[in-house]
Amino acid sequence: MPRYSRRAVLTAAAVLALSACAGDPEPSTSPSPSDDPSPSPSPTPSPSATPSATPTSTPEPTPEPAPLEWDIDSGGSLQVIVNKRRPLNPPDYAPQLVAVSIAQDGDELVRPEVDAALVALDQAQRAAIGEGVFVFSSYRSYATQTTIYQGFVNQYGQAEADTTSARPGHSEHQTGLAVDVVGTSGVARLSVAFASTPSGQWLAANAWQHGFVVRYPNGLEGITGYEYEPWHLRFVGVELATAMTQAGAATLEEYLALPAAPDYG
Ligand code: DAL
Ligand code: ZN
Repeated sequence: MPRYSRRAVLTAAAVLALSACAGDPEPSTSPSPSDDPSPSPSPTPSPSATPSATPTSTPEPTPEPAPLEWDIDSGGSLQVIVNKRRPLNPPDYAPQLVAVSIAQDGDELVRPEVDAALVALDQAQRAAIGEGVFVFSSYRSYATQTTIYQGFVNQYGQAEADTTSARPGHSEHQTGLAVDVVGTSGVARLSVAFASTPSGQWLAANAWQHGFVVRYPNGLEGITGYEYEPWHLRFVGVELATAMTQAGAATLEEYLALPAAPDYG
């Protein structure tokens, strides 16, 4: 199973940083000099048969940092990448779930790791802007996604439906790692206007610190396959969300050097 190491993705990230955000700091992957296990000089000079020449300075080999790996293929991985070109594997994968602990519609479920992160996200947003986070959509089974997608098709036709709703087997909501949110004020629920609200702005700038990314940014349908959804947060873990943010990458596809997924191919 292919795994994506930080070393591999840094190449793509570096390209992005150069083209889009030259001033951004790269995540440091070099060990500090104090970590360098240099051999200590030998106290006893060895007998030399030949006169020693000018001491040469041999560069210390720099130990490679252990690559940080993400499993982007398994349905159960916190870093699984699901899009129109990458169906969930298996398509009806059913994660272990818990009820969402923060304000929510009543029957919202997520992976346990996501709930813990939502609690921290909610507390941080409350501290910053005096308003919490409200979850109005979260885990969806294959059957539920089928119903939702079919509803869009019936109302708007398939081409239009595909710009906003994932076909069953292709939705991040089936992983238990995606949530649709609004501020606890409820202003601009399920609307692009959410991006201009205090909650929408705070989340766009800070959600990464708690392991979430705004998965479908404005104007990047050609990469993600979906129109702007400022309410759709995807949990990927603090490490990947931080690395992606520091690299200046707007999408997981860009950061992980994956093919764009504008359609089902
Ligand atoms: N609205 C997103 C793309 C979904 O249906 O999963
Ligand atoms: Zn969503």
